[in-house]
Amino acid sequence: MKRTLYCGEVGKEHVGKKITLNGWVQNRRDHGGVIFIDLRDREGLVQLVFNPDQKDVFPKGESLRAEFVVQAAGEVRSRTPETINPHLTTGEVEVWVDSLDILNTSRTPPFEISEFSNAHEDIRLQYRYLDLRRPPLQKNMILRHKIVQSTRDFFVRNRFLDLETPFLTKSTPEGARDFLVPSRLTQGAFYALPQSPQIFKQLLMVAGFDRYYQIARCFRDEDLRADRQPEFTQIDIEMSFVEEGDIIEIVEGLMKAVFKGSLGKDIDTPFPRISYDQAMKRFGSDKPDLRYGMEIQDVSHVFKNTGFKVFSSVLASNGVVRAICYKGGASLSRTEIDKLTEWIKGFGAKGLAWLKVTDQGPESSIAKFFTAEELAGLQEAVEAQPGDIVFFGADQEMVVASYLGALRVELAKRAGLSDKSDVYRFCWIVDFPLFEYSAQDKKWNSVHHPFTRPSAHDEKAILSCDDPGNDALRQYKSRAYDIVLNGTELGGGSLRIHQKQLQEKIFKVLGISPESAKAKFGFLLDALDYGAPPHGGLAIGLDRLAALLAGEDSIRDVIAYPKTQKGADPMSGAPSPVDAQQLFRELGLRQIEKKS
Ligand code: AMO
Ligand code: AMP
Repeated sequence: MKRTLYCGEVGKEHVGKKITLNGWVQNRRDHGGVIFIDLRDREGLVQLVFNPDQKDVFPKGESLRAEFVVQAAGEVRSRTPETINPHLTTGEVEVWVDSLDILNTSRTPPFEISEFSNAHEDIRLQYRYLDLRRPPLQKNMILRHKIVQSTRDFFVRNRFLDLETPFLTKSTPEGARDFLVPSRLTQGAFYALPQSPQIFKQLLMVAGFDRYYQIARCFRDEDLRADRQPEFTQIDIEMSFVEEGDIIEIVEGLMKAVFKGSLGKDIDTPFPRISYDQAMKRFGSDKPDLRYGMEIQDVSHVFKNTGFKVFSSVLASNGVVRAICYKGGASLSRTEIDKLTEWIKGFGAKGLAWLKVTDQGPESSIAKFFTAEELAGLQEAVEAQPGDIVFFGADQEMVVASYLGALRVELAKRAGLSDKSDVYRFCWIVDFPLFEYSAQDKKWNSVHHPFTRPSAHDEKAILSCDDPGNDALRQYKSRAYDIVLNGTELGGGSLRIHQKQLQEKIFKVLGISPESAKAKFGFLLDALDYGAPPHGGLAIGLDRLAALLAGEDSIRDVIAYPKTQKGADPMSGAPSPVDAQQLFRELGLRQIEKKS
């Protein structure tokens, strides 16, 4: 049973040779007594020919149906010029079969195994092994393999050690809910599955393994979206004796290696670095898509003396007026603009003012509220030309930033600026705030995570002050950085706190009492006391990286066995109830009816 070639690799160079193939029947065509089979394996398709003169194999060819799995042997021949298929890599040749083994038959699959499938995703996931036979998913899985392979090669070249960290562990806070695993041996106690290897990788630095990486599975019980799964994979990195620039350089080198190794593409480094404040100002987002411009402009100065009440009162209370120019957008209808306005309210906008620039002059439903100078000033500030539309709004800075940021992305999508699949624009976002206030929890949270080091300047302030107060907390910056590709946050990291005193201060700001800090992170605090080196790192979302390189919108298409929106696996039926006896006897747990 020895395969000599993959179907997709049969070419002109094999003409005249006898080969043996293994694969699945894509389809069968009967043409004037001759039978043609497209045989498929992971590398592609090749045409088999069954000639009626071959008395012993011809009937077997006739019995083949879609998805039968076979071994076929025969001679490679050139196709006649008029039968060459230019759309197929193997289209110049065909294999004249002289022996065929049907290794297994197949029922008719619930959906067609082809390039495009319009089967519902639940069905595709239920029969994932059939879905995975489809060429685009085969391609994605192979691409993912290449990404991982070039990642490993890169790290080996750079003297990183591949070390594992536990799955059955204590919670590491990354801001999501933990998946819990009950302990049989210590009833009533639970492990948490790791949201990331964060604390363990820091402890590896304390242990002296100064360059660590791991292709690490992480678990987060959070609401799922196209770019989130409950279990996902990180390319996780940690280094000692480094500063931001060292980690950034390593990650840029990694991206170069991955692009070359998986797509054969060269990318330019270094990537631009943009401060968080600038990113919010210019793009209204901390993950800006740099494939297009359409930057947000501050136009507060244009309206500083405006008679339009809404704007003047916003400006009087330290708010801003910002604008975005949509090239060619003057053709939007009133209905379309109204729809956009309604949609943008979901992002916190109170309204959306607009101005069309036409050859006949400005056109706007609210032109009457503004002077001619104001309208001209607005057009000039955003460099609007006839045919364009300017959207603008007034509110507190972060509110306008966030909805104009969303509008920028939406308008770019409409203009087709973000479906250039072959363009890769990276950037780093740096100088993040250290803390953010959660109105919901009524407390300060870490923007990145509690182990992130404050900026050098703020570190001194934090160490020397017991109660910094809200204004100071808002101002503090961190030594965290995110890597962004085409508007997606690919990864994030930071320099870490390596001194116990500072870590304790940070826990205090976060409202973690010394007792609670000791109970949750005592082992980390202890370790910081035993010669912990300065260190830092980052984690890249492997699934997101693979999705971007594969040109897929959802990470589900680059994961062999993903979960549905509800965190379920329709194929295996997980999650599923367990026997009440088993719960009680082995784990000491009993389910109680929820009163509704
Ligand atoms: P962070 O929480 O930012 O950092 O995660 C790093 C990257 O992991 C990916 N990611 C996800 N991918 C798919 N599904 C999810 N649910 C999901 N959640 C996160 C993203 C994200 O940028 N320990 C730190 C890293 C560090 O500081 O070194 C961490 O986990 O691409
Ligand atoms: P109003 O006076 O509330 O009826 O608003 C008049 C127009 O201004 C409407 O077209 C609103 O969409 C727009 N508008 C109201 N508030 C804002 C705001 N904060 N920013 C931009 N446009 C606004």
